[in-house]
Amino acid sequence: MDGSLIQELFSVEGIGTQIVMESAEKVRSANIDDIAGILDLIRPLEEHGILVRRSREQLEQEIERFTIVERDGLVIGCAALYPFQEEKTGEMACVAVHPDYRDGNRGGVLLNHIRHKARAMGLETIFVLTTRSVHWFREQGFYEADVPSLPNGKQALYNYQRRSKILMLKV
Ligand SMILES: CC(C)(COP(=O)(O)OP(=O)(O)OC[C@H]1O[C@@H](n2cnc3c(N)ncnc32)[C@H](O)[C@@H]1OP(=O)(O)O)[C@@H](O)C(=O)NCCC(=O)NCCS
Repeated sequence: MDGSLIQELFSVEGIGTQIVMESAEKVRSANIDDIAGILDLIRPLEEHGILVRRSREQLEQEIERFTIVERDGLVIGCAALYPFQEEKTGEMACVAVHPDYRDGNRGGVLLNHIRHKARAMGLETIFVLTTRSVHWFREQGFYEADVPSLPNGKQALYNYQRRSKILMLKV
């Protein structure tokens, strides 16, 4: 292929087939070293109004809430879980898969990781607020819910102008 040497040397994916001992991709809890990678992933989505903006400081404080998909040292997917222990529910937020890596079930894998985390915390449901990806969450088994079904702390913050759909899932 014309340009294959350049593609091999200068792209993360390279060109051709690589045989490895274990998958180049890992799903794991995020740590402080992943912040730059998460910001690179979510900034474009925030700029398009798809995700709510988070500052670096906020991300630093909340980093243990995040799960990431890492590939060759790059963060290509993320999702966060904010528990509301009293109400036995949790918000799944900041769900994103890098555009080059969509439709490979990475969203599904992230959701599974968050489900396990929620169960381990003793939560019974998780919910998301989304404006763009209602169909995707429905396909994953989420059902539509209303503002009163949100935990009290979240109801007070619900932004009626953004008009996000509320979707819930039993974990
Ligand atoms: C939603 C998102 C995380 C899915 O990630 P993904 O890794 O592509 O998900 P999966 O591979 O598990 O699922 C892909 C399937 O869902 C469909 N899909 C993806 N995004 C969708 C959307 N916004 N609406 C409806 N369907 C969608 C794909 O067409 C594909 O369907 P197929 O299996 O029939 O081909 C990803 O599209 C994304 O990052 N979107 C932008 C951020 C966003 O909207 N986040 C939600 C706000 S909290």
